[in-house]
Amino acid sequence: MKTPVIPTPVDGLCWLTGASSGIGEALLADLVKEGWRVVISARSEDKLDALARRHPGKVFAYPVDISDDRAVATTVAQIEFDHGPIVRAILNAGVYISIEAEHPRFEDYAKTFDVNLKGAAACVCALTPRFCERGKGQLVIVSSATAFGGMPTATAYGATKAGLLNMAEGLAIELYRYGVKVQCVTPGFVDTPAQDDNAFPKPFMVSAETAAKRICKGMNRTGFEITFPKRFTWILKLIYALPRDWHIALVRKQTGWDKPPEEKKPA
Ligand SMILES: NC(=O)c1ccc[n+]([C@@H]2O[C@H](COP(=O)([O-])OP(=O)(O)OC[C@H]3O[C@@H](n4cnc5c(N)ncnc54)[C@H](OP(=O)(O)O)[C@@H]3O)[C@@H](O)[C@H]2O)c1
Repeated sequence: MKTPVIPTPVDGLCWLTGASSGIGEALLADLVKEGWRVVISARSEDKLDALARRHPGKVFAYPVDISDDRAVATTVAQIEFDHGPIVRAILNAGVYISIEAEHPRFEDYAKTFDVNLKGAAACVCALTPRFCERGKGQLVIVSSATAFGGMPTATAYGATKAGLLNMAEGLAIELYRYGVKVQCVTPGFVDTPAQDDNAFPKPFMVSAETAAKRICKGMNRTGFEITFPKRFTWILKLIYALPRDWHIALVRKQTGWDKPPEEKKPA
């Protein structure tokens, strides 16, 4: 049986999804500084091309919509044909859509599930057979602290992020014996364009650059979970460790959803 080893830039390529903005864009800068050759994906071809032009010979743009599983499979095959094996994959692409239960739209749920959950599944299907065959690889799945328990207006987003944490745990159990390292990132609030649609207060929010540094540090260590800022995510973990009726009541009160609808407006 093989024990997973954290790959280094000499072992091969890093594939980063959701690289065109926010956490992904900040991560790219740090990965390049660490010496990685990075293949970047998102839908915005021009943004990816501009990023690749900044790092000639080190960063390569492969636009793809991750909710299209066939396109993802073809893209991964093409990347490896063009540049050699992917040894670290960071599944970071995701969308946040706020949904209020008074007037939910099915298409908002469907889009969130398609990108965040089905998109990650498409990437996993394209990658893990390759990692298993080579007995090497690192798969990093970006979830969120909303994975720990339910939050108002995040009923689609939170469901996908809880699903991703569960998916990553299962993969970590299965892939260990192939020498493949699986990790999951569970950040609190990060100041990126994804937060523009979030009317909630955002305690302990960190910059995308700080988030990228925490993720890079975590990826070079062996721990399964990369969580930050810990003063926020550990409080959430404690709250969600309470009996469910207690934590539901506590979160309802803390977020103001204990008030009558006419008084309650998201802060
Ligand atoms: N910001 C936070 O507070 C926070 C907290 C916890 C976890 N996260 C997670 O961190 C990750 C990055 O989020 P962010 O805050 O950096 O958001 P962001 O700035 O909006 O970036 C999202 C990235 O995902 C890409 N993307 C969206 N839909 C896609 C699709 N269908 N196919 C391929 N790429 C797609 C976007 O590029 P295109 O639009 O060009 O496709 C963009 O590069 C997400 O998974 C998010 O859930 C964020």
